[in-house]
Amino acid sequence: MDLKDLRVNGRRLRESLEEMARIGGTPGGGVQRLTLSDEDRRARDLFVAWLREMDLEITIDQMGNIFGRRPGLNNDLAPVMSGSHIDSQPKGGRFDGILGVMGALEVMRTLHENRVQTERPFVIVDWTNEEGSRFAPAMVGSGVWAGALDLDWVYARTDVKGNKLGQELERIGYKGPAPAKKRPVQAYYEYHIEQGPILEREGQIIGAPKGILCLHWYDIFVEGTANQVGPTPMEGRNDALCAAAEMILAVNRLPARMGGNLVATVGEIHNFPNSRNIIPDKVHFTVDIRSWDDDLALRAWEEVEKEFQGLAAARGCPLRAEVTWRVEHSPFDERLVERVLRQAERLGYSSRRMVSGAGHDASYMNQVCPTAMIFVPSIGGRSHVEVEETTWEDCEAGANVLLHCLLESLQEK
Ligand code: GLV
Ligand code: MN
Ligand code: MN
Repeated sequence: MDLKDLRVNGRRLRESLEEMARIGGTPGGGVQRLTLSDEDRRARDLFVAWLREMDLEITIDQMGNIFGRRPGLNNDLAPVMSGSHIDSQPKGGRFDGILGVMGALEVMRTLHENRVQTERPFVIVDWTNEEGSRFAPAMVGSGVWAGALDLDWVYARTDVKGNKLGQELERIGYKGPAPAKKRPVQAYYEYHIEQGPILEREGQIIGAPKGILCLHWYDIFVEGTANQVGPTPMEGRNDALCAAAEMILAVNRLPARMGGNLVATVGEIHNFPNSRNIIPDKVHFTVDIRSWDDDLALRAWEEVEKEFQGLAAARGCPLRAEVTWRVEHSPFDERLVERVLRQAERLGYSSRRMVSGAGHDASYMNQVCPTAMIFVPSIGGRSHVEVEETTWEDCEAGANVLLHCLLESLQEK
């Protein structure tokens, strides 16, 4: 068969996605597979079993990243890589991350059953903790592998219960022996749902992002004075939650105030002691700022931090702000972006260029090798929610684009 006519098996891709969606499936139709939870372990075990069926060379590294390698004709050449993440948000969807892992697996199966020999080795990967919602920050598996994050710092990150990431990795049996350290890679492709409204709104099937916005994460700790709510007069209170409420609104106003292309969000808050009849004395909340313009995002933080200080002083509630994580905006390899668009056209799928507002392991991989992503539409533009949905036809279309982009890179001498 002419390799140009090769297609993935859409039904098999759907069945794999459906089987994965049962692990951590929620009553609302989504999945909850928090990183390094028992559900993450079960999904990893299933993924590894599927890799074994193809006799791939399986490696687990110190970060719990899982790699499955299919040899090429010339194994001295750098491999081509593709994958994404198995972990999910709390009450997340059935497509975010896992589509890119199952999509790459479907490509691997298609090559395998058609006995396609490629010039270069092909490596499929599941990166640990892409989401960063149980253990902040996000994308740490690829971040350590790429040399951008320190392994011990990542191991020491804690969840809300005080569990350490390194210990949880060990507990689920995925702290592997291989060094989490980059090696030469010919190209990395990550297949993902768009997680936004553009493709659906414009009736297009394939998105080719030119890159990913910068992601800046902060943790804010506000301190007040706890007291009985009844006898304590309103004047003179140091209510940490009220101070935080004003700060949260300041974050929400930030994009309009900066006047540029920027989004800013407070998504997580912890209030202490969290009793209806105690004035709160401690609040911890997070800030997420994203833009294509890194300087604008940095200036936005400086502005809002100043505003926080003013609000804190007015309420007598001192604050501490930590810079938790920053990843610069990541412009992809133009040659690979063009390839995604060209393959989409050849396969008969409408397509467009765009930008990724969501973070992806592709951001760190882009620091290691030429990188691109393939997006398919999210119904209603909804993601990080249980109703996250993409049609099976679109899942198959994106996997076919992935297959042919990978084949082009795999045959490069
Ligand atoms: C990752 O899911 C992110 O964009 O926060
Ligand atoms: Mn994702
Ligand atoms: Mn996500």
